[in-house]
Amino acid sequence: MLRGGVLRVSLACRGKRKLVFLRGSAYSVAMSDFPPVLKTALWMAGVRARESTKPNGLVSDPLAHVLIGQEGLEAALALEQAHPAPRALVRRMRLTDDLVLRLVKERSIQTVIMAGTGLDTRPYRLELPAALEWIELDYPVVTNWKNERLHAQQPRCTVERVGVDLSRPGAFASAVAERCKGRRSLVIMENVFHYLDLQEASTLLRDTHALGPGTLITADLPSPRFRKSHIGRRMLAEMESRKVHIGRATVANVDQFAATLQLRVLERYPIVCLNDDPHTWRNLKCPWWISKARRELLQVVVMECV
Ligand SMILES: C[S@@+](CC[C@H](N)C(=O)[O-])C[C@H]1O[C@@H](n2cnc3c(N)ncnc32)[C@H](O)[C@@H]1O
Repeated sequence: MLRGGVLRVSLACRGKRKLVFLRGSAYSVAMSDFPPVLKTALWMAGVRARESTKPNGLVSDPLAHVLIGQEGLEAALALEQAHPAPRALVRRMRLTDDLVLRLVKERSIQTVIMAGTGLDTRPYRLELPAALEWIELDYPVVTNWKNERLHAQQPRCTVERVGVDLSRPGAFASAVAERCKGRRSLVIMENVFHYLDLQEASTLLRDTHALGPGTLITADLPSPRFRKSHIGRRMLAEMESRKVHIGRATVANVDQFAATLQLRVLERYPIVCLNDDPHTWRNLKCPWWISKARRELLQVVVMECV
């Protein structure tokens, strides 16, 4: 932990370098100084913290509080009261939890890479095998934030954090290809596509081929209609109000998109129209009357590199 004195931190976000001077702070970046990109991660951690307090919540994340502190929690709760986060966000978190647990077991996954990991704490809160290696990728400011605040916590598997700008061609591959050589890998891209343009998102997905055929990817892919939908407008307005760079990658035809990137679609889940009653959560079927366009608004898709 870094304590006291004057500290100079170099933050690399989207190629821009920024110097931050802090006096007497316990951490290299304090809550009051965090950059816009960290606000979206804070928002998600706040959603998890709030969901964790519900008796039948879909997600339980005790470390969300550790990561954002009382100040962040209060900010997130105030925000939630003013603009409740769409339930689809919580369903996506839970769905991704379930997918990770199942795929790690069924496919004997050895390495999980979480791209745009934000303040997610799955290696601490999910029952993962101790032999698993978990690699988290995000901007250095986010990975440093987590390293400083989670150093006393015990993950269930090995965790490594790499600070990287994923919009740069080749950044993903150079961060993880060597580490994953010859290992069965799963890449999680949860809630990242909104921040990338289509070219950047495609490059990121193409880079996963460096990990070899059979590599699995879970990603939530918004359709072009998503931006105009109620949930899409709310999410994007929220990010714009926080001055977060948004790329807004959207995908009109998931199968075609995947095929052009030499990916095969294995599973898909229409996240906007899932029921979030915890008793029926495992029944992931979308009601029959929901239109195709609505099902495709925001899909969590499992793909495989071929
Ligand atoms: C909304 S948060 C989602 C975090 C996490 N996946 C979750 O659902 O809680 C989006 C994350 O993507 C990261 N991100 C966006 N663009 C990125 C880029 N070009 N390189 C690295 N990380 C990026 C942000 O820093 C942020 O932590």
